[in-house]
Amino acid sequence: MVVYTGSMSDAASKTFYLETFGCQMNAHDSEKVVGTLLAQGYRQVPTVEEAGLVLYNTCSIRDKAEQKVFNRLADYKKYRAQGKKFGVLGCVAQQEGERIFERAPYVSLVCGSASYRNLPQMLVQLETGSSRVTGLDDRMTDECFETEFAARTNPHRGYITIIEGCDKFCAYCVVPFTRGKERSRTSASVLEEARQLADLGYTEIQLLGQNVNSYRDPSGLKSFAELLVAVASVVGIRRVRFTTSHPRDFGRDIVEAIDAVPALCNHVHLPVQSGSTRVLDAMSRLYTRDEYLERISWIQAARRDISLTSDLIVGFPGETEREFEETLSLMDLVGYDSVFTFKYSPRPNTPALRLEDAIPEAEKARRLAVLNDRQKQIGTRRNQRHVGQIVEAMVEGKNAARGQWVGRTSQIKVLNFTVPAGVELAAGSYVDVRVTGCFPNSLVGELAV
Ligand code: 5AD
Ligand code: SF4
Repeated sequence: MVVYTGSMSDAASKTFYLETFGCQMNAHDSEKVVGTLLAQGYRQVPTVEEAGLVLYNTCSIRDKAEQKVFNRLADYKKYRAQGKKFGVLGCVAQQEGERIFERAPYVSLVCGSASYRNLPQMLVQLETGSSRVTGLDDRMTDECFETEFAARTNPHRGYITIIEGCDKFCAYCVVPFTRGKERSRTSASVLEEARQLADLGYTEIQLLGQNVNSYRDPSGLKSFAELLVAVASVVGIRRVRFTTSHPRDFGRDIVEAIDAVPALCNHVHLPVQSGSTRVLDAMSRLYTRDEYLERISWIQAARRDISLTSDLIVGFPGETEREFEETLSLMDLVGYDSVFTFKYSPRPNTPALRLEDAIPEAEKARRLAVLNDRQKQIGTRRNQRHVGQIVEAMVEGKNAARGQWVGRTSQIKVLNFTVPAGVELAAGSYVDVRVTGCFPNSLVGELAV
């Protein structure tokens, strides 16, 4: 963990500890929250014991994730007597709201992500003794959390949020209720941040949004694909990624942009969730199996070899064995490079709660295992095509135990590779690696000299 120390003035008294759960959006929100606290004179400390203010940036995408924060809070009850303050941020905060004060009365700050821009005022309220401070925006705000203070933890790959919130309301998903309505930043502001990152030495940028490709420039200047090209054209930027794309808003122009601009990584994450049109309809995903496959055909027709990854849910209410098999057959047809797989988890407020969650846990687990097994075979096959190729990797670090270096390809594949004796590489540098073998989820190779 990177721990930032702010200015020395109030440093002794104002200390905070922050733990983050969940997705990349949350991780980057935390970078901005840390930056905001530092600007307010706080100092980040690495343990709960040392902190005056303990913050959790929470995730509620599945029940298991939500439970984690309540377990943490229960563990730390003992610190209440020491006068520590606790704050719950993020999706569980927005979802549970003031109920958190009832479940954990020693919590004094509850703030959803759509209210982070008000954090400085909330911190002042906390400091002046308020015992229950809330920032709970119920899909009202049109504003983004833009701050110059992000305390980035990775010195080479910089994250930039371009769109917040979600308006899709997929039947299973809590996000539209926790992250507010969709709101995009202007392309000028995104490009300004990209230039700042390049000036600081960043070479990779990842554009973030719950539905990144639903981006609508409020100034009307650029489409999403045009924004991708513009960010990739910033001097010093060698790689641009974006996540997560929604199939409904996935246009051919995105593929054309990747084909035309080498700095746009040749990887698309396009969650399908299910291979059955009936289930997709019940999930309110706004596309059919065939429409999804059409988008895949655009990507596969590209001149560049674009890797494909996806999210899949098994055991959505009413999913029959035959419908589950349609997901398997879709995986075969697409040939994903890798997938994230989940068992359906009923979430508060979501439309799917009205459907009976009747598929037993053991059956969900079986379907999940079948799916993961299938992906192991597909992933290995997909990775075999790289064996013998020379690919460019961004060096991420060294696995001392295995005596190997770890890098990532433009296609977002993990590549473990050896280097000749005595050679040391710098994290963040780019090297050519000859691929000599593969596993379902990674490649192995040797530095090409
Ligand atoms: N149950 C299981 N998986 C879910 N996801 C979102 N909501 C749920 C849920 N209620 C998965 C989807 C989404 C990913 C981020 O999490 O696959 O794409
Ligand atoms: Fe959730 Fe669907 Fe929005 Fe993704 S698009 S965040 S799955 S509601």
